[in-house]
Amino acid sequence: MSFAATILTLYPEMFPGPLGISLAGRALAEGKWSCEPIQIRDFATDKHRSVDDTPAGGGAGMVMRADVLASAVDDAVARHPEVPVLAMTPRGKPLTQARVRALASGPGVTILCGRFEGMDERLFEARPIEEVSIGDYVLSGGEMGAFVLLDACIRLLPGVMGAPSSGDEESFESGLLEYPQYTRPQLWEGRTIPEVLRSGDHAKVEAWRKSRSEADTRSRRPDLWERHEGARVQSPSGARLKKKD
Ligand code: ADE
Repeated sequence: MSFAATILTLYPEMFPGPLGISLAGRALAEGKWSCEPIQIRDFATDKHRSVDDTPAGGGAGMVMRADVLASAVDDAVARHPEVPVLAMTPRGKPLTQARVRALASGPGVTILCGRFEGMDERLFEARPIEEVSIGDYVLSGGEMGAFVLLDACIRLLPGVMGAPSSGDEESFESGLLEYPQYTRPQLWEGRTIPEVLRSGDHAKVEAWRKSRSEADTRSRRPDLWERHEGARVQSPSGARLKKKD
């Protein structure tokens, strides 16, 4: 079954964009996923086909109208009732690899892309929509966020990545950053590859990788490390175990 991506946007011509080439592009051509951009403006009802209006209470910019957005969402839900509806917004829950994995194992995703100062809050009260952020910075619209989310999902679809196991050990799958990688030439600008990686001793290689993964996570991403350690010292019953130093 193909992963159905429906994108509600004021710029449908942006899609599939970068997802039309390389890994995702090949998967699209092979029918492993489908990309259906929908013009939000088609759901406007006034003669100017307006999708936004001035913010209640005053202030800069424009706000996307709840009525127009709800009509667009309802249309997408009618086409794909089993697919979750997400809205890209910096106010949303930060996207994680765990959420990406869950979405990729489902039937697809409908993504609402905001523009301007935001979307009328009543939309999120009236419809089951999951607000998602791709990070603590502000983009000019949700489309770039949609590309990020879709790319992360598509590469996990069955048969999309070359080696089926090559995703298992990478960053975030275990809650840790991935260990560093090396390839030929063995000597480059006076720098060699760590000796252990050329030893052919798989157990030693694995131990080195685990230790680098832990050390790098600890120094680069103390937030991830703390969560990882927190999970490790928690027994299955929920009781705290003594933490190793
Ligand atoms: N739209 C604007 N900024 C965004 C962000 N950080 N994440 C998702 N969608 C956005």
